[in-house]
Amino acid sequence: MSNNFRFFSPTEVIFGKDVEQETGKQLKSLGASHVLLVYGGNSARRSGLLDKIRHSLKEQDISISELNGIVPNPRLDKVYEGIRIGKADKIDFLLAIGGGSAIDTAKAIAYGLAEPELDVWELFQHKRAAKKCFPVGCVLTIAAAGSETSKGCVITNEKTCEKRAYDDNLARPVFAIMNPEYTRTLPDYQTESGCVDIMMHTMERYFTNGGNLEITDAIAEALLRTVIKNALILHDNPGNYEARAEIMWAGSLAHNDLTGCGNDGGDFMTHKLEHEMGGMFDVTHGAGLAAIWPSWARYVYRDCLPRFVRFAKNVMGIMSAGTEEEIAEAGICAMEQFYHSIGMPANMRKLGIMPTDRQILEMADRCMAASGNHRGSAKIITLDDAVEIYKNAR
Ligand code: NZQ
Ligand code: ZN
Repeated sequence: MSNNFRFFSPTEVIFGKDVEQETGKQLKSLGASHVLLVYGGNSARRSGLLDKIRHSLKEQDISISELNGIVPNPRLDKVYEGIRIGKADKIDFLLAIGGGSAIDTAKAIAYGLAEPELDVWELFQHKRAAKKCFPVGCVLTIAAAGSETSKGCVITNEKTCEKRAYDDNLARPVFAIMNPEYTRTLPDYQTESGCVDIMMHTMERYFTNGGNLEITDAIAEALLRTVIKNALILHDNPGNYEARAEIMWAGSLAHNDLTGCGNDGGDFMTHKLEHEMGGMFDVTHGAGLAAIWPSWARYVYRDCLPRFVRFAKNVMGIMSAGTEEEIAEAGICAMEQFYHSIGMPANMRKLGIMPTDRQILEMADRCMAASGNHRGSAKIITLDDAVEIYKNAR
């Protein structure tokens, strides 16, 4: 049985070789006159992309301010710095160059500039909802978080080690410039973590007990099979353009809500459990998801058996006979095997962290606080459950 839904995916996607050259014209057509470029460490500079973007904007007489040094698991202090620059320079558009970290920082700055009298962190504490947001565009250089089309924005408060998400359609990027060639310079670990994250965005929406549509399931399963196939190609041949293109487009479709139409809002507990690992140990998001998912899956699959059986057969290709539980378990094992084959960890030890019992309790506590009333769909997760899932993932 399916649920009613609204599907809102306003981002204009400009995809393929050389499309970054259109950035200036695109911004001009949207009325931008003073743009804040938001980017990370060195990758965009090294690849020459940054200079191309600057040139493309200057050709259109668009003024530029810049905020660089955004790190993975992006920090709140950079958001405040960006708001200060944005106010002082009277910027009217944000352009992120990079991945989820740069884009989410740009989104948070955009919220902060639109309501400058309020503290933007209150959004992430869920003390209020945003009423306005400045426009955000992006030039994507890593296929992973899906922030280029999503309503999500994830920021870490470095003082409290809280990594928190705020979701709102207001911040969906107006456009996303996506040239898969730029993802060729990614370290393998980032490519592979990205593939896991893309798959998880679909799986979070797939493992539910709250209704589904056949067409949505079919899209989700095709997306998952496509990412598995092309992640394996990239593991052997990282320069393969076609595989890069498949993964990049999958990343946007995985998190623009397409694979959730008709469900009950999805599960998302793997993400919530991982965000606490990111907040405490600063792990790479996708690798963190790979490390916690098998433990979550084994803990919940009996409560969501038909979906796990379907996943095992339609995504992981399990053909063997057996009870439903055996088939579901075989599907989970096959996913672990896939993680191994692309160099991703399937537990915390392989991820390189070993939280103590006290740290696990702290992460579980925070996870419950951050989850509010949304504590899963495959199985509703309690504090004790979260503790067990973390412990079993060590
Ligand atoms: O800083 P630079 O030098 O650019 O290096 C980055 C960074 O170290 C590097 N990189 C990016 N493109 C590159 C490149 N290196 C070489 N060549 C390239 N073409 O990759 C590293 C990771 O970048 P980051 O932006 O952190 O990656 P990702 O896109 O995975 O974003 C992760 C963040 O997004 C959040 C995550 O929690 C994490 O904070 N998420 C955001 C979501 C959303 N807004 O909807 C949903 C996700 O579930 C996720 O939570
Ligand atoms: Zn994610």
